[in-house]
Formats: sequence, C-alpha cells, structure tokens
Amino acid sequence: EDPAKLAAFQSRIDADEKIEPKDWMPEGYRKTLIRQIGQHAHSEIVGQLPEANWITRAPTLERKAILLAKVQDEAGHGLYLYCAAETLGVSRDEITEMLLDGRMKYSSIFNYPTLNWADVGAVGWLVDGAAIMNQVPLQRTSYGPYSRAMIRICKEESFHQRQGYDAIRKMAGGTPDQKRMAQDALNRFWYPSLMMFGPSDKDSVHSTQSMKWKIKMNTNDELRQKFVDQTVPQAEYLGLTIPDPKLNWNDDRGHYDFSEPDWSEFFDVISGNGPCNTDRLAARNQAWDDGKWVRAGLMAHAEKKRSGTVA
Ligand code: 3HC
Repeated sequence: EDPAKLAAFQSRIDADEKIEPKDWMPEGYRKTLIRQIGQHAHSEIVGQLPEANWITRAPTLERKAILLAKVQDEAGHGLYLYCAAETLGVSRDEITEMLLDGRMKYSSIFNYPTLNWADVGAVGWLVDGAAIMNQVPLQRTSYGPYSRAMIRICKEESFHQRQGYDAIRKMAGGTPDQKRMAQDALNRFWYPSLMMFGPSDKDSVHSTQSMKWKIKMNTNDELRQKFVDQTVPQAEYLGLTIPDPKLNWNDDRGHYDFSEPDWSEFFDVISGNGPCNTDRLAARNQAWDDGKWVRAGLMAHAEKKRSGTVA
C-alpha cells in the first residue's frame, strides 16, 4: 500500500480520530477488524447458549425474568456487532458461515458447561465481569461503528455482572450446600475467565499491530491483571476462596500476584477441543438450518416490496 497513505492514516489514528466505513483504510486494518468484531459478535450469540440452558430451570420467576432479559440483551449485542462488521464489506451470511464451519472463533469461555444454578451466578459475576474489563476500553477504539456499538453494549453489561454477583451472593450466604455449590462454580470458572483475555502478551500475535491501530486499547495481560485486582475483594466479600494458592497482594507492584491459567488447555479449547465446542457449534448449525425458511420468506417479501408487486 502507498506509504504516504499509510502515514496519513496512522496520524489520524494517533490523533484519536474515528475511522468511518467510507474512509480509506489499510487492508490489514479492515481484515483485523472483521476478525475481531466478527469473533466478538459470535461470542455474544454462542454466549447465550450456556445461560439459556437455565432459563426454564431458574429457581424463582424473578430469576427467570432476569436471566431471560440478560440472554435477550446478548442477542442484541450480537446484532450491533454483526452490523458493525457488515460496514467493512462482509455480509452476515459470510461471517455466519465462518462461525458455523469453524473458520472463525468465539470466546473460549463458552466452551465450558453450566452444570447448576450457581454456575449462572458465576457466569454473570466472572464472565460478564471479564467482558466489561475488556469492552469498556473498546468504547474508545478507532473504528467508528465498533466504538459506537461498544458504547451501547457497555450500558447493559453492568446489569449483567450485577445480576450474576447477586445470584451467587445469595448462595454463598445460603445453606452449607449452596455455599459449596458457589465455591465449586468459582473453582471451575476462575481460570477459564482469566483465559478470556487472550494468551499472555508474549504469545499474542495481534496485540502489537492492533494496539498501534487502536483496535485494541490495552494488552491482554494488563486487562487480566485489572480483572484479578477487582475480583479478589469481591470473592473475599462472598466468603469464597479463589482457587489459586499463589494468589497474594504484592505491595511493591500494587497488584495481586496470581497463577497463570493452563495455556495448553486454552490453546486446546480454541482449537476446538473444549468440553462443549461440538455441542455449541451443533446448536448454532441447527439454529441456522431451522431458520432457513424464515430467511427465505423475509427475502421473498423484501424482493416483492422492492419490485413493487406488494400493496
Ligand atoms: N477465545 C477464543 N479465541 C481467543 C481468545 C479467547 N478468549 N483470546 C484470544 N483468542 C485467539 C485470537 O482470536 C487469535 O486467534 P485468531 O488469529 O484466529 O483470531 C489468537 O487467539 C491470538 O490471540 P491475540 O491476543 O493475538 O488476539 P487478539 O489481539 O484478537 O486478542 C481478544 C484477543 C482480547 C479476545 C480480542 O480479540 C478482543 O478484545 N476482542 C473483543 C472482545 C471480545 O471478543 N470479547 C469476548 C467476550 S464477549 C462476551 O463475553 C459477551 C459477554 O456479553 C458475556
């Protein structure tokens, strides 16, 4: 690409200007955005599955209504993000096909099962907590449509995290069995939540360029550390123990020292071998096939309207 154009583009980024769909952009910028926004959108849609499993099994009508609202929000988040990806010249069908055939990823965390109601609390508390940590900075990302989608999404995320924390707080303060379930959920979701932030910086292939283009505002390790620092006091308040013997406040650093996740498990999960990868992709493929007739009807109606044959 033309070096002068690249230099002019980079100075726009450095001046914190927003890049809009019709602006010139390097092909690599466009491709990385399609990858990141597309995978972000897929994460929202696949992320509905673990919690949806518990809508009909919620312990009270109130909890059912709260969970239903949250899962519906996630569908809307996916919609905002697919629309943002479409402004980069990729169609909804193309990007969906890449999810369904495994060419595009979704967040590793959704390949873990939700075994009981305490898990629903842990998902809201930890998974949405981690998602907030990662999404708040993205409100300032350089690509206009992505930044605006993030601003709308972040308005709903704090409700997602608070409702989960409230659910697990109820159990942590409940009967001994409920407290045991809450601790077990924390044990199973702690390290997969740390993995959500991506591999350690030394293994992050995209970070350097993505930070230069302000597609990524912080490194993976920075946000992971922020998440740990924020979450440890919350666990202490619940009377739950973070499953990490090395966890310790380090006064010199002003942060908690903690054990890294098992990165071989992480790379295993993102290459398709997690506990639920097969189920999640099968569910999304089934939904796509089941919805085929609806899409065909909508397209036929749109065509009729376009050709003016419908009153
Ligand atoms: N799950 C799956 N794949 C992951 C991953 C994760 N948690 N973390 C990293 N990867 C993949 C990357 O996609 C990349 O693979 P690719 O080249 O095939 O895309 C590879 O591992 C190397 O990682 P990098 O750090 O180099 O990749 P990125 O610079 O893209 O960083 C990221 C990864 C931090 C997830 C970044 O893409 C990002 O910030 N994405 C936007 C936010 C997002 O997608 N969050 C997911 C959660 S959204 C959610 O949870 C919904 C909420 O409502 C519950």
